[in-house]
Amino acid sequence: MRPKRSHPEAQPSPPRLIVKRDLRVCADLADLSRQAAEAVAETIDDVVRTAGTCSIVLAGGKTPRTLYRLLASQFRARIAWANVYVFWGDERYVPPGDPRSNYRTAKEMLLDHVPCPPANVHPMPTHFQSADAAAREYERTLRNHFVERWPHFDVVLLGIGEDGHTASLFPGSLALAERTRWVVAAQAPVEPKVRLTVTVPVLTGAAAVHVLAAGATKAEALRHVLAGAGDWIKYPAAAVRLGTGSVTWWADREAAALAHGRTRAAMIGLSL
Ligand code: 6PG
Repeated sequence: MRPKRSHPEAQPSPPRLIVKRDLRVCADLADLSRQAAEAVAETIDDVVRTAGTCSIVLAGGKTPRTLYRLLASQFRARIAWANVYVFWGDERYVPPGDPRSNYRTAKEMLLDHVPCPPANVHPMPTHFQSADAAAREYERTLRNHFVERWPHFDVVLLGIGEDGHTASLFPGSLALAERTRWVVAAQAPVEPKVRLTVTVPVLTGAAAVHVLAAGATKAEALRHVLAGAGDWIKYPAAAVRLGTGSVTWWADREAAALAHGRTRAAMIGLSL
């Protein structure tokens, strides 16, 4: 059982206009992964030094794979893995051994190569009769970890889809309106269609969010997500801008190609 950490009574702040467009433009996926891995390793190290333990949410999809390999190799020694608690932001409702499983990807690329105690690793369950029952079970797991009323992850890694989705929060989905539950079952427009996902309040309660976007196919979505106040019903990844913590957008040149104006200012290193 993890040592209890006292957190301020973290009530999710009401959604409000927030800039949160700290866009870091990197040469390519390799450069993005190295810079993001450096930042994540540094944050984990800082949190463990100050709070004793660090909770991290892993992203699914392909983009974070290089980052996972780097955390398991180049940055392995910089992280006190025994003090790290690992969770997932979403999962495809497939067995853990399925090649499409986000758990399997992270296990093979990262967790099999670092001394993180198995008791600290909390994959989303996919063996329940219904995905909703699995979502409720994972919420119990999070509630056991976070004794206060709202989860307050230290580090959250996210990807972004071509349609602007993040985790398994898809444009216009009912899951976006969820205000009380921490984890819900969701429907994806692509196979595997049944998903589990944390909800917007969980993402906006995080201390440090890192969103990874690589390739030209993500440029349009990133443009919309960073534009104006961020229409997060149409482009759910924009919802993280409503959060109380820091948000860093890691993009390679192709993915950042359509980001404009004030965001371009950030591109040349002027964090706003
Ligand atoms: C998933 C993810 C999803 C992913 C985006 C981007 O389970 O698919 O959690 O939100 O991050 O779809 O995926 P790629 O990185 O593969 O482009």
